Amino acid sequence: MARILTGIQSSGVPHLGNILGAILPAIEMSRAPENESFFFIADLHSLTTIKDAEIRRHHINAVAAAWIAFGFDTDKNLFYRQSMVPEVCELAWYLNCLTPFPMLANAHSFKDKSEKLADVNAGLFTYPVLMAADILLYQANFVPVGKDQLQHLEMTRDIAQKFNHIYGDTFVIPEAKIDEQVKIVPGIDGQKMSKSYQNFIDIFLPDKELLKVIKSIVTDSLPLEAAKDPDTCNVYNIFKLIADSDQTSAMRKNYLEGGYGYGHAKQALYELIISKFASAREEFGFLMSNPATLNHQLEKGEKRARAYAQDTLSLVREKLGY
Ligand code: ADP
Ligand code: TRP
Repeated sequence: MARILTGIQSSGVPHLGNILGAILPAIEMSRAPENESFFFIADLHSLTTIKDAEIRRHHINAVAAAWIAFGFDTDKNLFYRQSMVPEVCELAWYLNCLTPFPMLANAHSFKDKSEKLADVNAGLFTYPVLMAADILLYQANFVPVGKDQLQHLEMTRDIAQKFNHIYGDTFVIPEAKIDEQVKIVPGIDGQKMSKSYQNFIDIFLPDKELLKVIKSIVTDSLPLEAAKDPDTCNVYNIFKLIADSDQTSAMRKNYLEGGYGYGHAKQALYELIISKFASAREEFGFLMSNPATLNHQLEKGEKRARAYAQDTLSLVREKLGY
């Protein structure tokens, strides 16, 4: 049995790129009977950048609702808010005292953020230590992350090895799991879809607003009659990531034959999103307007997560002489 753990920052409503690139593959992995998945909403980490309470609450709910709407099984796996297992802050303190200052000062994500952000707070600096605590608290074996998080995983391993070396075997040394297969979903302007570029498709928008976003996908200005190159078209490149192979070849044929405009392709993409994600859209809407149901789902995971966390912490406290 492998324990897989990953944190998802609550920094916005998950967009199509997050869904196809992270949520669906992670849910797929969590279905394997031999895996036990711990997925949590990194809402303490979000305080390093987001200060507004209402925005935080909305993002936490939106991230949780999206995972559940796409079928993440909260009985087989543990799904929880990081902030609801405050033991992680205690462990983070212990680990802080074992983390060399230069290791944090040299982290590229800190250097990068401290150049870009106006608010360079101490939380940004110790961000990797809280992340190490997230992972070590639950004795995770594998941590699926994007390449940008690899250095944080290396730090987690270093901190855990140092602790084990001084105090004897305590923590499982986790391994990063990088999925090289993950496709990069293009945004409405053709560059990588991202919150930071404001080029994303929020598939949970009401119909009319969703259509408006899809209509704003950038294309060239070839007339309706002209034959078109599907491979250089943003509409087609998004369409093919969602469609099945018959739908994709039919769309390809439309482009190559001509007499098919970008307006038609956008309408087809809109209809595909509406039909493909119908049940997820409905469930998401339901959960967002019924926060008590959402809370209930999370509380189940939080209760179980706390039990694991308390076990690890009592071991750690004993080793440290508390
Ligand atoms: P954003 O770029 O919108 O801020 P995040 O960095 O919060 O997104 O990414 C959350 C998860 O979604 C990560 O696992 C990341 O790899 C995945 N992801 C984000 N954008 C895309 C994309 N355009 N295509 C594929 N996966 C993506
Ligand atoms: N730092 C991760 C990110 O920005 C989120 C995260 C927090 C995380 N704690 C974690 C990921 C623990 C994996 C394991 O995407």
